[in-house]
Amino acid sequence: MAQDAYCQTTPSNMQDFCIATVMDMIMGLSSEDARKIESFWQYCVQHQYFNVGYPEAADFDYSALNRFLSFSINNCGDWSQQSNYLLNSFDFEREVIQFFAALFCIPAELGWGYVTNGGTEGNMFGCYLARELFPEATLYYSKETHYSVAKIIRLLRMKSSMVDSQPNGEMDYDDLIKRIWLDGERHPIIFANIGTTMKGAVDNIATIQDRLRNIGLARRDYYLHADAALSGMILPFIDNPQPFSFADGIDSISVSGHKMIGSPIPCGVVLARKKYVEHISVDVDYISASDQTISGSRNGYTPLLLWMAIKSRTMSDWRQRTQHCLDMAQYVIERFHAKGIHAWRNPNSITVVFPKPADHIWQKHCLATSGKISHIITMPHHSGRETLDRVINDIALDSAPGHGLVPALVV
Ligand SMILES: Cc1ncc(COP(=O)(O)O)c(C=O)c1O
Repeated sequence: MAQDAYCQTTPSNMQDFCIATVMDMIMGLSSEDARKIESFWQYCVQHQYFNVGYPEAADFDYSALNRFLSFSINNCGDWSQQSNYLLNSFDFEREVIQFFAALFCIPAELGWGYVTNGGTEGNMFGCYLARELFPEATLYYSKETHYSVAKIIRLLRMKSSMVDSQPNGEMDYDDLIKRIWLDGERHPIIFANIGTTMKGAVDNIATIQDRLRNIGLARRDYYLHADAALSGMILPFIDNPQPFSFADGIDSISVSGHKMIGSPIPCGVVLARKKYVEHISVDVDYISASDQTISGSRNGYTPLLLWMAIKSRTMSDWRQRTQHCLDMAQYVIERFHAKGIHAWRNPNSITVVFPKPADHIWQKHCLATSGKISHIITMPHHSGRETLDRVINDIALDSAPGHGLVPALVV
């Protein structure tokens, strides 16, 4: 394993010192276990900024919150109510949700949401609300949708239909309408991507709604969920975003906290129209409160992390941070082009798509790949260009004549 290899390269007296310190810190640990945990620490330190293939920001410092790990903080239930479990961080969760409600343009009295374990849970919550509203309806999602949708459909036992995508990763709106029409579906549930996983494509929810209107569906006839795992923290901070918010017509939205914001623990936020959340609320005598979340016990620490992330930055900081990522994405494209490789990105996206390199290259740099493409996602921790340059140079070397790089998809 790689971390063992790292441990072996650490000077042995230093290693012994670290292991003795860990044994002091954790009473009862054997020297073998102390070595293992110390080795993993060194591995994490060495690799903390490795990531160019997955959208996990690493530029965070939440150390001021470390002391809260001494407590069993549990946000079971609804943060907007009193709970019999005193050690909760509801006050902080409330402020986090208020921040996101403003960001996604829903007045506090009309929306409700909570801090989730990540984008998948938020997507499940949105689909659950939709299914409760329209129990017999079909869920429509594009081919480029994150794999979590398949799990959700199975778990919720929903009817579903996979819609074609355009070459840039956006939904094929003609195919969507054709399917709804052929199904005779009167209450379609639309799962829209606000930033697809591989190509960063945004499904145009204004176009989707126009097209639904054209086939005679009124606003109350369908449900629109936005999967904004990554771009939910990009689009609100740029000048000409594609439509993404409640003001643009969505019914629920899910965003990941560990992606664009950055967090040592996976987390996210989901928001929905309150009138739909009320359908699923249950009173729980055990906690003397109501609950409308997916989990029972909920993480009380991640609301603190998100709270700190939003309180320690101004809107102008978020804008700058976002612009930096977009600039870096453009830089990556230009570097690829200078080396004769066709790389591209969607509007307002930090995901740069290029032909999949040889296995040893994408494996070496932990690049995500799918079919014939790979991507680099430029995150806030890419403050310098060295890491990105190194990856691009390796890919370019591999694509030199005779090295067999597949031709790019042109959009
Ligand atoms: C578009 C999209 N939706 C949902 C998810 C799942 O999010 P999470 O990993 O936070 O559960 C991802 C993760 O990469 C994603 O890219």
